[in-house]
Amino acid sequence: KPCLAVNIGGIQMKNPVTTASGTFGFGPEYSPYVDINRLGAIVVKGTTLEPRQGNPTPRMAETPAGILNSIGLQNPGADQLIQKTAPYFAGLEIPVIVNIAGNTVEEYAQLAGKLDGVAGIAGLEVNISCPNVKKGGMAFGGDPFTAAEVTRAVKAATQLPVMVKLSPNVTDIGAIARAVEEAGADALSLINTLLGMAIDVRKRKPVLANVMGGLSGPAVKPVAVRAVWQVYRAVQLPIIGMGGICSWEDALEFILAGASAVAVGTANFINPRATLDVLEGIERYLLEQQIEDINELIGAAHSA
Ligand code: DOR
Repeated sequence: KPCLAVNIGGIQMKNPVTTASGTFGFGPEYSPYVDINRLGAIVVKGTTLEPRQGNPTPRMAETPAGILNSIGLQNPGADQLIQKTAPYFAGLEIPVIVNIAGNTVEEYAQLAGKLDGVAGIAGLEVNISCPNVKKGGMAFGGDPFTAAEVTRAVKAATQLPVMVKLSPNVTDIGAIARAVEEAGADALSLINTLLGMAIDVRKRKPVLANVMGGLSGPAVKPVAVRAVWQVYRAVQLPIIGMGGICSWEDALEFILAGASAVAVGTANFINPRATLDVLEGIERYLLEQQIEDINELIGAAHSA
């Protein structure tokens, strides 16, 4: 049997398949469809210090190309995560990575400190790339200096492995990746959603209450593969690749471009078993191609 294990900045995963934050809830939502312990890890919904209601509705819209969302980081807050949800994480056999966001650098750091040492939390994914909030998210992920500032503050506040989630809505993702690497990040996640919008022709107004939102799904896959390719060349850090992964072939494109692991997002909404379909397809491919270790494939398209 081929070896599927990968290491993401100190987080050991038995296989490279994980979930994209916000598309898999906190895990239990998918347990009727997926034996969660078969995945390499799960990345759970974005969490902030205080509970948040999120943006006004409508805040989700399906388009033929993918899903637009402007959720605005709706979540029950850190205390609820620690008290009610982390005990469930602790009962899983796989690492759980919590996506964190804040309005200020101090909030990111405070939240990171609060989650440090909580049983069941194996790592943090720092969200500096949400396109749907005014204060957090893109306000930090849009340039190398602020991206590095948040990274340094979070690293100083926790012992947990820290991965930083980057945005495609920038001109030089390589420069941001380098700044985040220098600031001490252990890994990178990319990409978050691509800023977009849709207009209802009968109402003659934008579909989303917030006008713009983040596009996810198959439409963004070539953008995401390109971003992974560029970042792989810019830094040494392991990359979790995501953006429109629906099939095992999609996942392999990301791995060949340089991702050490892959996250399935929007596809979970269409096919709740998508993560396992991707995993099983990767396993079959390795057997068929007689590749003994998945690590041989990471970034392999660069030397072809
Ligand atoms: O597309 C996104 N939507 N990306 C995020 O990081 C957060 C989420 C939201 O809550 O708006």
